[in-house]
This record gives sequence, structure tokens and C-alpha cells, in this order.
Amino acid sequence: MVQINLPQNSKIKKGHYYRDKTGSKNLRKVNIYRWDPSTEENPRIDTYEVDMDNCPSKVLDLLNKIKNEIDPSIAYRRSCAHGVCGSCAMNMDGKNGLACTKPHSEIKGDINIYPLPHLRVLKDLIGDLSTLYKQYESVQPWLKTTKKSDNTEHHQTKEDRSKLDGLYECIMCACCSTSCPSYWWNGDKYLGPAVLLQAYRWIIDSRDEDRKERLKKVADELKLYRCHTIMNCTNACPKGLNPAKAIAEIKKMLATS
Ligand code: SF4
Ligand code: SF4
Ligand code: FES
Repeated sequence: MVQINLPQNSKIKKGHYYRDKTGSKNLRKVNIYRWDPSTEENPRIDTYEVDMDNCPSKVLDLLNKIKNEIDPSIAYRRSCAHGVCGSCAMNMDGKNGLACTKPHSEIKGDINIYPLPHLRVLKDLIGDLSTLYKQYESVQPWLKTTKKSDNTEHHQTKEDRSKLDGLYECIMCACCSTSCPSYWWNGDKYLGPAVLLQAYRWIIDSRDEDRKERLKKVADELKLYRCHTIMNCTNACPKGLNPAKAIAEIKKMLATS
């Protein structure tokens, strides 16, 4: 039997324990993945006791409280705090999601926070999304038309516009792609659910004139057909979108074209 061992320097160790100093009777333990590339040290899990009487409701509030009041060295991405920018995506309580929309009251017991899975970690909760962004660029996510707009709008019917519902809302947070086993193992070649949903968004846009080329570009054993309809992506999407369905629609279009 093949035995796979992790390299010694990738093993996660027990980290620092930050005891509460407020005297609060309403404490929760928060365990956070930490790794600093500027040191030679292994990743570790730091534990913080947090006074929940003075903490707003979301996991991002909790992280901000820890950073502001206990340990300013934690690194994580965030910007809008309203589920719009996608930057605070991380793994909370074993599930990918947006820290700014996830209520910590939904997590029972200790609160465990990790970076999005199967990404190279840049620091603490920050994963490297550069491959995903290159793949996103490869599907040319912009309107391709020869019609001159003269700075006016490109019109479409209400019916055509409604075909973009469930797609245009995607905020490219990567929760879906980083929960997809096919993307874990073939992330350098398989485009993954986030990028394929975006590809489909432009393929079915009635104003776009590049449908055939777009379909041809994704019609590839590795780029598209690595999806095995496992559905993790759809379960993970914090915006309630269905990337697995978008992928199935692309496959259907290719089969019937
Ligand atoms: S349905 Fe396809 S894209 Fe979604 S998790 Fe499964 S393999 Fe990945
Ligand atoms: S489909 Fe959902 S999970 Fe995937 S990138 Fe878009 S918003 Fe995030
Ligand atoms: S901070 Fe923008 S989505 Fe969470």
C-alpha cells in the first residue's frame, strides 16, 4: 500500500493560546490557522478566547475584534463587509463561505477558521488565487461585439436579460472552486466551477457575438470535462448560485451544437 507522508515543515503545530483579559463570562474559543512565510516555522493553530458580549454577529467581526484587540498580526482579506467583493472567503467550521455574511452563532463549539482549501497559502488565511485569476482572464469575461455602441447601451430583451440571472451575481469568491475535488487535483488545467460559470455567463449573453469561439475554447477534456457533477460547488456557494448547472448547460450546448 502506498503511504503518503507530509513534509515535516507542512505539519500543523499547536500555536499560542491567548487567554481572555476582560473577565467576561461569555467567552468563545476561536482557533485560527497561522503561517508566516518570512519565518522558517511550521504552520500552527493559535487559540483566542474572545468576549462575545462585545462582538457583532459575523465571523468577520470576530476576526476584526481579535486583530484590533488581541493580536494585530493575523492576515486575512476583507473589503466590503457586505458579501459583495468576495475577498473574505475562507473555511469556517469546515465549510467555505464569506466571513462577513456567516453568523458565528451558527457555529457550535469552538470556532475553527482556515484558509480556503487546496490553495497555496500566502500568509495565515490568505490563499494564492493567481491561477484562478489567470483562468478567469482566459475566458475573456467581457462583451465581445462589433456593434458600435456610440456610448449608448447595448440593449437586450427582458427575456434574454433574465437568462443572466443566477450568473451575474457571482462575486468570484472562489468558495466553489476550492471545494471541488476535481479542481483540487487538476486546478492547473481544469477551469473549475467559478470560471466555468463565468464562461457560461458570456456564452449565453444575447449581446455577445463570440459564442461559437467561446464554446470552442472551453470544449476540452481537461478544461471542462473534469467536472464529474459532484455538486460540492453548488453546496458551497455563499450567493446561492449553481455553478454545476452552468457547467451542465455548457456541456449540453456542446453536445447539441
Ligand atoms: S459539480 Fe463539477 S465543478 Fe462542481 S464540485 Fe463537482 S466536479 Fe467540481
Ligand atoms: S459561483 Fe458562488 S462560490 Fe463560486 S465564485 Fe461565484 S459567488 Fe463564489
Ligand atoms: S468582505 Fe466583501 S464579501 Fe466579505
